[in-house]
Amino acid sequence: GSKVSPLAGLKRLVAQLQFSYVQQATPRGLGDAVWTARNLIGKEYFGVLLPDDIIVSPTPGLLQLLKIARQEKASVLAVQEVPRELLGQYGVIEVRKQLTPSLFQVGNLIEKPEPKQAPSNLAIIGRYILTPKLFPILDELQAQSDGGELQLTPALAQLVRSGEKLLAYKVSGLRYDLGTPLGWIKAIIGMASQDPRYAQPVREFIATLDSVDSFVYNQQRILAQQQP
Ligand code: G1P
Repeated sequence: GSKVSPLAGLKRLVAQLQFSYVQQATPRGLGDAVWTARNLIGKEYFGVLLPDDIIVSPTPGLLQLLKIARQEKASVLAVQEVPRELLGQYGVIEVRKQLTPSLFQVGNLIEKPEPKQAPSNLAIIGRYILTPKLFPILDELQAQSDGGELQLTPALAQLVRSGEKLLAYKVSGLRYDLGTPLGWIKAIIGMASQDPRYAQPVREFIATLDSVDSFVYNQQRILAQQQP
């Protein structure tokens, strides 16, 4: 038939690109992963995408950052406002200066702070455009390391302390966190219910679950009663 493969666009894109891979031998943190790719990147600005963060937007998250990085000739990372009690799951920025409603100059960054000690409610989302000046800092942290994890956030904090400009941009778009089972479920349901092909049947299906609620609830009650 005349059906266009859903992968046609992706195949076209892949045909235009060249891929190189390096493997991180042991899971020693995001800073170590970026450091592992240093010889492929060389002296250019580079993008980092954490694929467990999905950003659904007409302008992809990384492209939003790229525009800012080119305009401002600086490194830039993505942030979103997160409820205070969840800030301990993220890197959180301290704002030195607000430049526009969505753009901030970063004064410091703290990885997974105690919510009470978080310097803002702006959490880092997994998209970054970074200067190659990060690599000497990662080299140094790597040399000092005791073989434990090397995080990206403290390396970025050191980049700021060295006088480099680091910006944070409040990316627009719906964000899904695939790093937890509930986040994964929300991503599937959320994306399907925004898709013209699936929106209606998915919403109808969810509506039918109302009548299942009492069944699940009763099962839970029975299980709870069986606990010693
Ligand atoms: C990583 C980063 C953290 C960032 C998060 C975004 O943490 O270290 O700064 O906020 O990704 O998803 P991870 O989720 O790998 O623990």
